[in-house]
Amino acid sequence: MAMYNIPGSVTTPVPGATPAKAGEVVEQGDGVRTARTVAEVMAQSQAGDVLDELDRELVGLAPVKARIRDIAALLVIDRLRMNQGLQAQTPSLHMSFTGNPGTGKTTVALRMAQILHRLGYIRKGHLVAVTRDDLVGQYVGHTAPKTREVLKKAMGGVLFIDEAYYLYRPDNERDYGQEAIEILMQVMENNRDDLVVILAGYGDRMETFFQSNPGMRSRIAHHLEFPDFAEGELLRIAEMMLEQQNYRFGPGARETFQEYIAHRIRQPQFANARSVRNALDRARLRQASRLFANPDKELTVDDLSTIESPDIRASRVFDLGAAATPNN
Ligand SMILES: Nc1ncnc2c1ncn2[C@@H]1O[C@H](COP(=O)(O)OP(=O)(O)OP(=O)(O)O)[C@@H](O)[C@H]1O
Ligand SMILES: [Mg+2]
Repeated sequence: MAMYNIPGSVTTPVPGATPAKAGEVVEQGDGVRTARTVAEVMAQSQAGDVLDELDRELVGLAPVKARIRDIAALLVIDRLRMNQGLQAQTPSLHMSFTGNPGTGKTTVALRMAQILHRLGYIRKGHLVAVTRDDLVGQYVGHTAPKTREVLKKAMGGVLFIDEAYYLYRPDNERDYGQEAIEILMQVMENNRDDLVVILAGYGDRMETFFQSNPGMRSRIAHHLEFPDFAEGELLRIAEMMLEQQNYRFGPGARETFQEYIAHRIRQPQFANARSVRNALDRARLRQASRLFANPDKELTVDDLSTIESPDIRASRVFDLGAAATPNN
């Protein structure tokens, strides 16, 4: 189980705005309560900043970004309705994130927690990421307390259940997973104003899971599909990752990495942005070895931050027959 407290990544605080630090119970400020325009709610809650960051810092994912804007719009309008004394029923915001490995599901879930928090939907805005083993016990009587413990930790934030379909094992008649599902469904219904559950995993398996658990499907209001990244998007992701770590491609290295992507994408166990991250980690390792081999050379900022073409070219992905060993 992983707990994420989202750092307040907003760089320019809006004067008079409610500070929305993750992990803290935040009361919506008076500004938000008296707001009459969308812009006022967005500025005062600082949700607009998170949406802008999402657009800027995440490459591609156009359909996902559009759905997040829709959800934000719903919450902002609900806030404005409330401010005018209209009924604003707490909408159900449980979601499913489907897509291949490394398409940004966990990353987006973290941002989602932040947005929901700033718009006053959840009290704390943290994210608890779990898998089957965190929820389901091995013995009779162990599952309910385990699941309830996790739910308690997640209350006020987002519970992210990775590979959610493993909760359900149709081959095993006395599987405790079903017990966890029942408890989850109950809490998703009763505590929906204080907990958002996100079920994540591969699309086809999730569909099978929903078919066997129609009660679960009916509790999920938003299904977000994460597409695979195009080669150009993967290259942009690489450049952004390097920049964030104070590295850059030297002459020709960008083109070499482009070639790398074209090879890697066709090999087994390709995991989208995660494969890009791993490839860059290994390129950094080779860069370090290259510099290390010259112990007396004075190293400039440029030397230390440049990934050269050979640092990438040395990857086994370029070897003939590399398909069998894609992890280098
Ligand atoms: N759109 C994007 N732009 C830039 N970087 C991204 C994007 N999507 C994902 N990443 C980066 O790629 C890596 C993998 O992303 P993430 O863990 O969110 O994927 P995932 O879909 O949860 O994968 P898995 O199914 O394997 O858990 C992270 O380092 C993340 O920062
Ligand atoms: Mg993930």
